Amino acid sequence: RKKVTLQTLQAMYSRQEPITMITAHDFPSAHVAEHAGMDMILVGDSLAMVALGMEDTSEVLLEEMLLHCKSVCRGAKAPFIVGDLPMGSYEVSPEQAVQSAIRLVKEGRVQAVKLEGGVEMAPAIAKITGAGIPVLAHIGLTPQRQNALGGFRVQGKSVAGALKLLQDAQAVQQAGAFGVVLEAIPEPVATLVTKKLQIPTIGIGAGNGCSGQVLVQVDMSGYFPPGRRIPKFVKKFGDLWGEASRAIEAYREEVKARSYPGPEHNYPMAKEELEEFAK
Ligand code: KIV
Ligand code: NA
Repeated sequence: RKKVTLQTLQAMYSRQEPITMITAHDFPSAHVAEHAGMDMILVGDSLAMVALGMEDTSEVLLEEMLLHCKSVCRGAKAPFIVGDLPMGSYEVSPEQAVQSAIRLVKEGRVQAVKLEGGVEMAPAIAKITGAGIPVLAHIGLTPQRQNALGGFRVQGKSVAGALKLLQDAQAVQQAGAFGVVLEAIPEPVATLVTKKLQIPTIGIGAGNGCSGQVLVQVDMSGYFPPGRRIPKFVKKFGDLWGEASRAIEAYREEVKARSYPGPEHNYPMAKEELEEFAK
């Protein structure tokens, strides 16, 4: 497969072909995403929860993101890979933001970075893009700001909220972002924002009018135990948890029953050698 570049993505946007994006957090999850033909991979800081068992994304460090970015980039060559700037690595100043972005590219080996925020992050976006690093912005529900937002809530439901979203989207475009993630906003608002922009919008919980879609891989593939609550916008396309559970349970039962390993799994030994050995 040919490498997906910024130009490839812009061409898809121009011909209104939906852009497909999925998260990956390590070599195998990146490898399978590439084989499935995804255009873009996001090394999202959601890996704090889905790969590291943390409470929320605020705990994950830039160093930890670097390790996961390296692993993902070894696993997938063709997709355009974006690394999340974790909380605390970019908000202090545009200088801090560009330093962290450079590390994600130089050490993490990603092709672009993502950061959360609109109008207030425009100077940081301008600084990073000025250094030649493509930036994907992220507005609407921004999980790193959950304490300020009062939890994981739909954004842009009121006229004022929708106008703020539009302002944020225009500000990140103006600052040089190549695209913007719209998370958890009403479909009509996301559709209108998309129409008003000249850069692609990547929706998650933002309806079908965006330029592309992104989902967290463990959510969409069903790699979580029954009963766990998932956001309304997630469609469970698979049952990886069920598949893994069935396999591990079967293995456990066969070991307990001494039916695994069977003769077909054993290494043979020449009869003469065996007789000699058994003496
Ligand atoms: O960290 C993440 O997985 C994300 C996506 C949900 C957009 O930021
Ligand atoms: Na994220």
